[in-house]
Amino acid sequence: MAFKRLEGKTAIITGASAGIGAATAKLFASAGCNLVLVARRADKLEETKKACEAAGKSIQVEVHTVDASKVSDLSAFVDKLKGRKIDILINNAGGVRAPRPSATSTRTTSTSCSR
Ligand SMILES: NC(=O)c1ccc[n+]([C@@H]2O[C@H](COP(=O)([O-])OP(=O)(O)OC[C@H]3O[C@@H](n4cnc5c(N)ncnc54)[C@H](OP(=O)(O)O)[C@@H]3O)[C@@H](O)[C@H]2O)c1
Repeated sequence: MAFKRLEGKTAIITGASAGIGAATAKLFASAGCNLVLVARRADKLEETKKACEAAGKSIQVEVHTVDASKVSDLSAFVDKLKGRKIDILINNAGGVRAPRPSATSTRTTSTSCSR
């Protein structure tokens, strides 16, 4: 299997409730990687968790609702991880904010993170 080196490792993936983070989580799960999934929306995180558990055999998947833009949330999350062995961090939380161009607009688009 590809990504054999991920087997038995533990990865934190922020922004795991959707998009690139959720896709990465499922890929890592299929390679046997244990997962700590982070985002704000608990229901979407649970969906990712279920998909990961279906994709990975004998892996541990946990979810944490954290707003990465809030220091208090991050602090509490880090406290929960104290003493844990974490092998990989995919710090992906954020978003692409680009105004939809209208038919008459001549503005150029820009991107920024929601953090
Ligand atoms: N897609 C692209 O073309 C592109 C291009 C350049 C860079 N990127 C970067 O790649 C990353 C993922 O993009 P994507 O397209 O997968 O975005 P997406 O589908 O909008 O997903 C963003 C993820 O980040 C989470 N998130 C956003 N703000 C958060 C916050 N304050 N705290 C915790 N989690 C937060 C969202 O979960 P919740 O809403 O549940 O919190 C969601 O899981 C982003 O950092 C983005 O800037 C993407």
